[in-house]
Amino acid sequence: MTVPPSTTFRVPLPDPLIELLGAKVIGLPSAELDRGLLRGDVSAAYDRVRAESADAQIVVRRCRALLDDPDDDGFAVIEAGPLLDHYGLDDGRKAATVLLSWLGRPLRAFDKWPLWKPLGTNLAIDPMRATGSGYNPLHIDVVNATEPPDYSALLCVRPDPQGEGYSIVSQLRRAVDRLSEGERAFLAEPVFHDGAFHDLTGVGTEYDPFPVLDGLLPAEGFVRFTAKMLPAMDFRDPHTSAVRALERELIAEQKRFLLGFGDLVVVNQHLCVHGREALGPGQEGVPEERRRLLWQMFLRATGADAR
Ligand SMILES: [Fe+2]
Repeated sequence: MTVPPSTTFRVPLPDPLIELLGAKVIGLPSAELDRGLLRGDVSAAYDRVRAESADAQIVVRRCRALLDDPDDDGFAVIEAGPLLDHYGLDDGRKAATVLLSWLGRPLRAFDKWPLWKPLGTNLAIDPMRATGSGYNPLHIDVVNATEPPDYSALLCVRPDPQGEGYSIVSQLRRAVDRLSEGERAFLAEPVFHDGAFHDLTGVGTEYDPFPVLDGLLPAEGFVRFTAKMLPAMDFRDPHTSAVRALERELIAEQKRFLLGFGDLVVVNQHLCVHGREALGPGQEGVPEERRRLLWQMFLRATGADAR
């Protein structure tokens, strides 16, 4: 007998909440930022919608349980398709921003992009990049910052028409626990590098070189893991072997799922890495405006999880 894959990480939106967001969204202020974070008064206006809706509070509690329990996997997929379907991409995106603001303070991070950064599919760049078409290996976002975003969110606006590009996620803390003490000691040394750091706000300062393990508790610290740093590392160096061992553990327990239209995956970066399998073959035959498109946004934890 085949056991169907677990979908307990999916969070549907109750119809009354979808209707409430539709009724409120036009009158709510637009998502103005202050130093890269959603402005306080805008955040307060969005929060008043949560405060008056029992359904909103149930959804928030469900998301918090999935995202923030260190014994759980640290991710959730919110089924926001009806928001885009009923209210169009502009108001639907604003409604998704309102919803995410209940989980943390929306954060842009990249100065040169809007709050929601479009991640289309570009066949001319390195396939392993976020906007490439190949395997995007497991990583946390903005890994080389002193304060990476607490949560990373991706809203699927257009799935891969070739039917692939599975999302992958894996729980970092359990994978670290399965390593040897020696491997953990190598990962605790600040000798790791990853890419450039510029035009960023709200993520602290550049951390280079950084340790993979910072020794802090999950609520505070990060496992600064990205498999994207591996190709540039010396394969004879035991630090490289320790990173490879961690990648093996992460892949061994990874979960994979397809994002449908309007699915909004949220990942707690203190607990969970994410990535993407290759898109389907024949992307050259798909016009660019029909290839997979996600919108990305970050959240800064507000410490409001007790409400
Ligand atoms: Fe990412």
